[in-house]
Amino acid sequence: MAKKLHIKTFGCQMNDYDSARIGDLLESTHGFEVTNDPTEADVVLLNTCSVRDKAQEKVFSHLGRWREYKAENPNLIIGVGGCVASQEGDAILKRAPYVDLIFGPQTYHRLPDMYDSVLASRRPALDVSFPEIEKFDCLPPAKADGVKAYVSIMEGCSKYCTFCVVPYTRGEEFSRPFDDVIAEVYELAQHGVREITLLGQNVNAYCGSTHRGKIADLAMLLTYLSEIDGIDRLRFTTSHPLDFTDSLTNAYAELRKLADHLHLPVQSGSDRILTNMKRGYSVDGYRRLVQRLREARPSLNLSSDFIIGFPGETDRDFDATMELIESVGFDQSFSFIYSPRPGTPAAELVDATSQEVKLHRLQTLQARITEMATEISRAMIGTTQAVLVEGTSKKNAAQLKGRTENNRVVNFDGPRDWIGQFVDIKITEALPNSLRGEALRAWMGVVAESNVRTSTA
Ligand code: SAM
Ligand code: F3S
Repeated sequence: MAKKLHIKTFGCQMNDYDSARIGDLLESTHGFEVTNDPTEADVVLLNTCSVRDKAQEKVFSHLGRWREYKAENPNLIIGVGGCVASQEGDAILKRAPYVDLIFGPQTYHRLPDMYDSVLASRRPALDVSFPEIEKFDCLPPAKADGVKAYVSIMEGCSKYCTFCVVPYTRGEEFSRPFDDVIAEVYELAQHGVREITLLGQNVNAYCGSTHRGKIADLAMLLTYLSEIDGIDRLRFTTSHPLDFTDSLTNAYAELRKLADHLHLPVQSGSDRILTNMKRGYSVDGYRRLVQRLREARPSLNLSSDFIIGFPGETDRDFDATMELIESVGFDQSFSFIYSPRPGTPAAELVDATSQEVKLHRLQTLQARITEMATEISRAMIGTTQAVLVEGTSKKNAAQLKGRTENNRVVNFDGPRDWIGQFVDIKITEALPNSLRGEALRAWMGVVAESNVRTSTA
C-alpha cells in the first residue's frame, strides 16, 4: 500500500505552490499519496510562513497536535519547512525535539534524501541552505490540475524592506532560465491549462537567461508565453513598483492575454513612512506608474498590500494612505497591522501607537476598499465578461462557476462540457462575494475567433 503524505500550508501562494511541488516530488521518488487527513499519514509536513507573527505562533500549536499523533504512531515522520524553518531551524529542534525534518524554501527538493537519512539513522535531518537554482532542476515536471496553474519563475528578494523577513528566509533574488519556464508552460497547455499565474516574491524583477545567453525580462517572458496555443490568460504576482519597467507597462497595451488585473503593493500613502520602510519610491511615483498603466490599459483593476501602524505612523500618515486609496481606486487589499519581525531593521524602531488605534485604522481602510470593490462589481452588471469555467458552482452543482479577468467568481447555467473553456457571460447580478450571469457563447481562445466551438447566443 502506498505511504501517505499530509502537508499543512501556511502563508502565500508561493507556499501553496511549494507544497504542491513537494507532493509531486515525494510521489515521484517514493510513491507517496497525498492525504488531507493527518491521522492516516506516514509523513506530516508543515510548510510555514514567518511574514507576520500570527503565522509563526500557529506552527508550534500545530506541532503540539502532531506530537500526540506521534505518541500513538512512533513511526510517524514530522517535518517543518518554509520560512519559519529557515529562520529558526535549530530552535525548532530544541523546542520540539520530536521533529524529524527541517527544510527551507530553497531545499525542499532534497527532501527525498533527507527522508531516507531519517529512516536509516533515526536522527533528525536539517538543511536550510540557499543552493539557488538547483531546486528547479531537481523537481519533477509540473502537473496540470484543472484549468489554472501557478508557475514559479523567480525566488527570493533583494529589496530588504525594513519590515520584511523574506530576504533572510528565502534568500536573494534569482530567476529560473527563460527556456525552462516556456517549456513548463507549454507542457501545462498540452494538459488543458488555460490560465497561468507566474509567481515570485518580486516577480517583475525576473531576469532569466535564454539559451542564447541573453537576459529576458518579465515583459519578454509574457510576450513569448502569450504565443503558446491554449494559454489564453496570463497573470503574475507579486510585483514591486520599483521593478515596473516601461516594457512591462507597455505589455498591458500589447498583450490581450494579460488579465485586466494587477496586484501592485504600495504599503503606505505617506512618503515619510515609505522612506522608513525603504521602499525606494514616492507616493507620487506610484501614482504616475498607475497613470501610465491605465493609459496602456484603461480597464485595469488594481489590488494592493497595505501595512497599517508601521512604527511612527501618525493620523496624518494614515490619512495620506486613505487619500491615495481614493485617488487610485483599489479593487481588493491585503492589509495587515505591522508585525515586528526579529532581525529586521524596523523591529528596532520605537512604536508608540496603540493596538486599538491601529485596529481602527485597519478597519477604516478595509471598509473603504470593500465599498470600492462593491462599486466595481455593480458597474459590471450589464457588461459582457470573458469567464474561464473552472467547474461546477459551490452552492448549486447544476450551475457552472468561473472567474472574470478581474478575479470575480461568476455562477451561471451551462453544460458541463464548458468546463475548461472561456464563456462570454452577461453579468446580471452582483452579490457580496460573487456575480451571477447569463452565458452568451463559449469559445476556445482569445485570439483565435475561428476556434469558437459552441454558441448559445
Ligand atoms: N514583493 C512584494 C512587495 O512589493 O511589497 C511583497 C511580498 S511580501 C512577502 C507580502 C506582503 O506581506 C507585503 O506586501 C506586506 O504588506 C506584508 N508584510 C511583510 N512583512 C510584514 C510585516 N512585518 N508586518 C505586516 N505585514 C508584512
Ligand atoms: Fe519583502 Fe519588500 Fe521583498 S516586502 S518580499 S523585502 S519587496
